[in-house]
Amino acid sequence: MGKFTLPEVPYAYDALEPHVDARTMEIHHTKHHQAYTNGLNDNWEKLPADMQSKDLLDVLANISSVPEAVRGAINFHGGGYDNHRLFWNNMKQNGGGTPGGKIGDAINKAFGDFNSFKEQFSTKTVAVQGSGWGWLVFNPKTKNVEYKAMPNQTSPRTEGLTPLLGLDVWEHAYYLKYQNKRADYVTAWWNVVNWDEVDKRLTKAQ
Ligand SMILES: [Fe+2]
Repeated sequence: MGKFTLPEVPYAYDALEPHVDARTMEIHHTKHHQAYTNGLNDNWEKLPADMQSKDLLDVLANISSVPEAVRGAINFHGGGYDNHRLFWNNMKQNGGGTPGGKIGDAINKAFGDFNSFKEQFSTKTVAVQGSGWGWLVFNPKTKNVEYKAMPNQTSPRTEGLTPLLGLDVWEHAYYLKYQNKRADYVTAWWNVVNWDEVDKRLTKAQ
């Protein structure tokens, strides 16, 4: 067995119904997330020994130091491994609403108000070309939160940003229920956002 094991989803596959359907959750977790886990294990073994002893998050944050022969694979599978782990945990049953706490304040400061943030996040994430993610991130340089779209499975960590809230807009995340209607999936997804978790991540990042 490799160093990495498939992270758990902290609720039942049908917990996010009707917004995210159980069949999509099951396939997304047991097939797609498993494939990133396997790919990460396969490629981690190809890293220099000193790098293998590091934490995945440190390796992603220093992706340019990964040997070129495996850099693309570590970026892809390592990002996919971490992104999905974050994704399952930034959703919950009966989530959504308007966040308070530190995250509410940080969003208001950066975007004006929650509705402006939501609109900007939705519009830009729906517009991601091909496969990728929309993220609310913490930027340690400015100490503010900001929006960042990322292609494929590339983690915001590779750009020195701390991921707070991620939305997977690969077709595998919504096609069974929403087909080509990505915007409908994005609209529905706001109902399952786990703001308590996002607030915790911000507190940790600050
Ligand atoms: Fe995914």
